[in-house]
Amino acid sequence: MPRIRWSTERAHEVSCDLLAVPVFKGGGGVPREVAAALGADPAELLEQAELKAELGDALALPLPPAARAKRVLLVGMGEKAKADPGVARKAGAVVARRAGRATSVASTIAASVRGPAPVAAGAFAEGFLLGSYRFERYKSNGSGRAVPDLALVGGAARDARAVGRAIERAEILAGATNLARDLTNTPAGDLSPEALATEAGRLAKSCGLQIEVLTEKELREGGFGGILGVGQGSGRPPRMVVLRYRPAGARRRVALVGKGITFDSGGINLKTQQLDWMKMDMGGAAAVLGALQAVSRLKAKVAVTGVLCSAENMPGGNALHPGDVIRIRGGKTVEVGDTDAEGRLVLADGLSYAVEKGADVIADAATLTGACMTALGRRAFGVMGSSHVEVKRVLDAAGRAGEIAWELPLFPSYRKLLDSDVADLINISRRDFGGGAITAGLFLKEFTGDVPWVHLDIAGAAKSDSEEFEVPKGASGASVRTLVEWILAMAPARAS
Ligand code: BES
Ligand code: MN
Ligand code: ZN
Repeated sequence: MPRIRWSTERAHEVSCDLLAVPVFKGGGGVPREVAAALGADPAELLEQAELKAELGDALALPLPPAARAKRVLLVGMGEKAKADPGVARKAGAVVARRAGRATSVASTIAASVRGPAPVAAGAFAEGFLLGSYRFERYKSNGSGRAVPDLALVGGAARDARAVGRAIERAEILAGATNLARDLTNTPAGDLSPEALATEAGRLAKSCGLQIEVLTEKELREGGFGGILGVGQGSGRPPRMVVLRYRPAGARRRVALVGKGITFDSGGINLKTQQLDWMKMDMGGAAAVLGALQAVSRLKAKVAVTGVLCSAENMPGGNALHPGDVIRIRGGKTVEVGDTDAEGRLVLADGLSYAVEKGADVIADAATLTGACMTALGRRAFGVMGSSHVEVKRVLDAAGRAGEIAWELPLFPSYRKLLDSDVADLINISRRDFGGGAITAGLFLKEFTGDVPWVHLDIAGAAKSDSEEFEVPKGASGASVRTLVEWILAMAPARAS
């Protein structure tokens, strides 16, 4: 872990490999002494390099030997009036990506944006840590580089304590997101449901969580027909994992249910497209693990139960047949119209279980539908739910977390599309009707009883094909920070 510190030092006073300073559109932002050391107008230097001061533009320049910093990075910030903590988060990621071989970075960017100093510093540090993420476990010749230490300079002494707490929080949020990214990037060959349960065990140990792992025997005895059914075509058995964070004096009981399909081949309705993505079909379960790590480290005064519904969806000789009828925990029967609509089957078990155990509110995260990706694109996730109040809270939490979320409706009149001729429900609606993200949400709703519930469809957002600010190529860790912000808002982390 890099060391992130905050200080009242002035930019030209810090010794570092790289000093990152803001340049706003129309000029301004670079501390006077740094501009003097450069010996030219920073905005003109950017222009000479055919760059503007747009967010994302950045230019590294050497400084004369007399300067304390070896190099300066001019970081485009866009318009000064629009520079808020969200911009600081993105700038933090730009700095991380341009740090090269630097082992120490200093920056005045957080001190240059509007908003309370702790919020700006936290956002910048978070962006820096998220942008520093690399997945190199399988690289023989990875960069091998450690993330550089970071000094946030140019602040006011009175903010020291609050900024210190904000930096710690940023480290926890970025760490949790990066945990979810690591798990989601891990190939299915190395991450079976059993291996996911082992990872959950490791997390439980390090964070002091209670854990219960249900193997096939317990799943059978408990009537978890969704998880068992989806997993029965694979040589690698399914698991349900229950993790409990139980702080003293908790104000609310939250359940987080995660889709943990470690590989989604489609089953007998074998996929013909995007199979190479499908190791990431456990991104929802990974997000739940990340959120649990963060809320426990932040000592949130909320009781949180995580339920991971994990199976490998494979077309084996024992696999579910299209047309099979399975029985979900709690007794409802489901006709399997399509074995590729497996996420809702495993989640139905997990949601029923969460309702049964008593929760004040439930959220699930799932790479559930290609339809949601079509509707909202590859950065945003869809939010649906039975409680408008909770949906709104999740959308607000996403805003604070710097994630893009958008509400999709759960039209009651669409529910009849899920009527089955032979069972209580069918897991697929007519394809030509469209609205696949909504009908999937309506299916899940059937298993949430009277408990306020919110569903996050992260199918599009969980994996990125390109780097963009704090989002790396590959697994993004989508929804971790939103879930944590949502839970923290129920009870502040600490008296401040
Ligand atoms: N895991 C997929 C959804 C998905 C698709 C995630 C593409 C990421 C990228 C899910 O299990 C699935 O296959 N959904 C089907 C549902 C359909 C059969 C009703 C889909 O979206 O096509
Ligand atoms: Mn599927
Ligand atoms: Zn799936």
